[in-house]
Amino acid sequence: MRTQVCIIGGGPSGLLLGQLLLKQGIDAVVLERKTRDYVLGRIRAGVLEVGMADLLRQAGVANRMDAEGFIHEGTIISNNNDQFRIDFKKHTGTPVIVYGQTELTRDLYDAREHSGGKTIFNVENVVINDAKTESPYVTYQLDGIEHRIDCDFIAGCDGFHGVSRKSIPNTVRKEFEKVYPFGWLGVLSETPPVSHELIYSNSDRGFALCSMRNANLSRYYIQAPLTDKIVDWSDNLFWDEFKRRVPENIADTLITGPTIEKSIAPLRSFVSEPMRWGRLFLCGDAAHIVPPTGAKGLNTAASDIHYLFAGLVQYYKERDDAGLELYSEKALARVWKAERFSWWMTSLLHRFPDQTDFDLKMQATELDFLRDNESAQSVLAENYVGLPY
Ligand code: APR
Ligand code: PHB
Repeated sequence: MRTQVCIIGGGPSGLLLGQLLLKQGIDAVVLERKTRDYVLGRIRAGVLEVGMADLLRQAGVANRMDAEGFIHEGTIISNNNDQFRIDFKKHTGTPVIVYGQTELTRDLYDAREHSGGKTIFNVENVVINDAKTESPYVTYQLDGIEHRIDCDFIAGCDGFHGVSRKSIPNTVRKEFEKVYPFGWLGVLSETPPVSHELIYSNSDRGFALCSMRNANLSRYYIQAPLTDKIVDWSDNLFWDEFKRRVPENIADTLITGPTIEKSIAPLRSFVSEPMRWGRLFLCGDAAHIVPPTGAKGLNTAASDIHYLFAGLVQYYKERDDAGLELYSEKALARVWKAERFSWWMTSLLHRFPDQTDFDLKMQATELDFLRDNESAQSVLAENYVGLPY
């Protein structure tokens, strides 16, 4: 088989690139290790920057997001009972859109099926070959039979555990990592959200976040030790702990109910450089991970796709490879800013096991400063709604 762009990974990055290319008449095949249902079973974040929303519109997959997504013009930050609001609209003129990644991925799969884009599921042993030549190819197995796809370019959109990043030799690749000493215990519950805006809450007992998926589906998180087991967190224990970490008025009005999903996710900051090796381009989680504080994971994947898509269009329409040549540099410049912001938000809002009294005072003072200082709020708002592409 031959295609122009072989996309490894059918998560949001790979699917978004596939749809954008299809609209431009550029042929792409998506190879996915799992099934569509498996990919759609993963619960991920749900805050979209307007830059990402525009990209989805450009890809023709934004109808449901525009109809059902919530426009959020601000967010609440709390420190125990002290609450204040960051006004995105006032500081940046821009809101964010709250729309779950699961729904977005479903829209991308539906659009791909509708437009006849080729997706091959259940592929095994994907191998990237000759990425440093002008004739790269990808091999994989399906039902035990070996297949080969010849292509012009390979987009490595296969997430943190994929093969693409590891195909770049160790001598070329440099990885930067910070692992945080806690995770996020998250639940979904079919209850109305407690607040119409997200609440990021620091408390003496640790971090908590109030988020949502729709008018009757809430997403709540608390910081928890990575050694905790889900079975030890009954719904009652979760709600009790959650209520102790959010401001009293929120705890008092919270509607609790049985949870329909519960999981603990580790927090990590990670970047792999470069994001291009010959004709292989890494996008999204394949190249970088952020802790979820600040909701930058999906949005940073989208900005990679923006740069790669622009470079590929320039190549195919104008026979100019300048955009592709600059891909890694441009993508990484924005990635590092999202890394900085996510690391900062994480440091501001969590309790760390080794925090000294001095560290705690610094954290509390930083929160006070943010509450009282318009410039500091403006910086947070600019980063939260998304830096320009
Ligand atoms: N071959 C084919 N597909 C693979 C392989 C492989 N060897 N390894 C992994 N995959 C698939 C995974 O099954 C997954 O569906 O690649 C996909 C990668 O998807 P994600 O992990 O979701 O990564 P990405 O598409 O970059 O999405 C961006 O932003 O909010 C964050 O982490 C969150 O998923 C989100 C990400
Ligand atoms: C979510 O809704 O899952 C969510 C929202 C904001 C974050 C992280 C996760 O910062």
